[in-house]
Amino acid sequence: MEKFVFFGGKGGVGKTTMSAAYAVKCADAGLDTLIVSTDPAHSTSDVFDQRFGDEPEAVDGRTGLWAMEIDPDEEVEHHLMETKRALGDQVSAAMVNEIDRQIEMAHQTPGAYEAALFDRFVDVMRSSGDFDRVVFDTSPTGGTLRLLGLPDFLEGWIDRLTRKRERSIDLFEKAAIGNNEPRRVMDGDPILARLRERKEFFEYAGETLREHAAFFLVVNPDELSVRETRRAAEGLADRGLAVRGLAVNRLTPSPDDDENGRGARYLRDRVETERAHLRTLREEFDQPVVAEIETRIEEVKGDFLTEVAAELDIDTAAPATPEDGRT
Ligand SMILES: Nc1ncnc2c1ncn2[C@@H]1O[C@H](COP(=O)(O)OP(=O)(O)OP(=O)(O)O)[C@@H](O)[C@H]1O
Ligand SMILES: [Mg+2]
Repeated sequence: MEKFVFFGGKGGVGKTTMSAAYAVKCADAGLDTLIVSTDPAHSTSDVFDQRFGDEPEAVDGRTGLWAMEIDPDEEVEHHLMETKRALGDQVSAAMVNEIDRQIEMAHQTPGAYEAALFDRFVDVMRSSGDFDRVVFDTSPTGGTLRLLGLPDFLEGWIDRLTRKRERSIDLFEKAAIGNNEPRRVMDGDPILARLRERKEFFEYAGETLREHAAFFLVVNPDELSVRETRRAAEGLADRGLAVRGLAVNRLTPSPDDDENGRGARYLRDRVETERAHLRTLREEFDQPVVAEIETRIEEVKGDFLTEVAAELDIDTAAPATPEDGRT
């Protein structure tokens, strides 16, 4: 199994539950495991009954398990400040206000949220040398797909910006100092340096996601969830990110054969419907079904988590070479 494991899926299907259970499974198998969530509702904190923050913190009562919760709003704010600072250092005082205004506007556009979160994800991946496995509990499908599809898109955009900047420096040099030392200004240009740094960042992200990350989709046995999963699997595949398996959650338990009350008949019909969806998942998807988790009578936390972990047929073994996915 790759070092980085992502769980995606529609809202409320059980992503947090599955990622927590898988993280517990990895930790119990002896891997130093970090679970990372981006849920503003702090559901990872709820699952473990412990408040987590922005940095990895050991989970009480578990060995080899750490957790952190990234607050998306704070990330956008942080990203905004960082961008302002990075550019502010490089332009004249007169331009700072105008640039600040532009950056603030850019952060209100759709996608800014994803961009900020993406940066943080990649930061976590880059600085995860202490961990054998990092499990990402992602936001619902749409956002995650956009998020993970960003590196190639942004790399292309940065290439275009770089070419523009090179051209304007070139023109400036030709006008100002003639064509004697054309590389002089280019080499020391802070904006080119920043663009190069961002390009390396996205190259790292793209490569890491393609080569050291595995994706699992959590799905409920109903029509909407199955349809959404099909779209998500195709979307990920289009970006060169293969979905490794489907984790089916919230299956209705069957009543005993001798039970025939109204409740039992209802459950039996419900189980039948769900079996049909399960068949669709098995027959029409390329990915294997790696878990069939029944609906529990309570939220999945504590001992339930260990129980669900045992039902996940997802490999925990660390990457073949310790260098895999490390930086
Ligand atoms: N198999 C199950 N049996 C009983 N309760 C479950 C099961 N799976 C999940 N739940 C409960 O359902 C709720 C939603 O699950 P969870 O938080 O894991 O979903 P999610 O996909 O992470 O949701 P979101 O999209 O809001 O992040 C939680 O209260 C969780 O404890
Ligand atoms: Mg969640």
